Amino acid sequence: MHLRCYHSTVSRRGKFITFEGLDGTGKSTQLRKLAAALREAGCKVVETREPGGTATGEKIRRVLLDSKTEGLSSLAEMALMFASRAQHIAEVIQPALDRGHIVLCDRFTDSTEAYQGYGRHLGSENVLKLHHILCGGLQPDLTVLLDFDPAMSLNRARRRNQSAVHPAKSDTKKKLLQLSSDENRFERQNRSFFARVHQGYRAIADREPQRVVAIDARGTPAQTHRRVAHAVEERLKLSVGRQSILSMVNPSRK
Ligand code: TYD
Repeated sequence: MHLRCYHSTVSRRGKFITFEGLDGTGKSTQLRKLAAALREAGCKVVETREPGGTATGEKIRRVLLDSKTEGLSSLAEMALMFASRAQHIAEVIQPALDRGHIVLCDRFTDSTEAYQGYGRHLGSENVLKLHHILCGGLQPDLTVLLDFDPAMSLNRARRRNQSAVHPAKSDTKKKLLQLSSDENRFERQNRSFFARVHQGYRAIADREPQRVVAIDARGTPAQTHRRVAHAVEERLKLSVGRQSILSMVNPSRK
């Protein structure tokens, strides 16, 4: 049977799906799994991330995440997040949406609201104003918020980084892995910072229930994937001919 992505036949504009959550909630894994399911269903999918996603954005990412970046003010940090995002929208996100593709983005403006707005105390209002000015108010069609206990997710992120360093054998490999292992300046923040970020995410989900779906991410990656696929199918009606994405990832459900 020839499968076609139903949505691309009925809409000229693509779909914009963002993944949000604390560090270590498994966003990247879930994004990859959803991308694979959608591609299998015949959809054209673009996978991308923030900060980053363009050559310029990846340079900005290095500055932002490098633990050797010192003395960056909270406002400068927020401005760099938006600089990366404005370039990302212009170069990658908007053109892909115009072509009718599905864009899966690891973090977007909700991260700025949660981390800078709540975590750094810069306030939601300022973040939303900048979003309006610099991002033309572009809103995701759906945001998957992977919900996890703040302390557990941070431990998971730190363990992930440590295990990236230890198995390294050669000096070059060790150097490369160490670069990525301590790349995240944010993971050095204290518990109360992450508690505020978590609170920020909850507030966003409560404010915009039509856009944001909070998904319990405490299970196995496969269990979480089924929940994500279900939410995408229900909210965006991304069914594939007569076969749903959900039945493809969970054959027992029809
Ligand atoms: P990333 O590697 O995406 O985090 P993880 O995979 O661990 O979830 O690193 C991005 C970091 O940048 C993350 O700690 C959150 C932070 N961040 C902000 O503070 N504001 C933002 O607007 C964005 C996009 C990210």
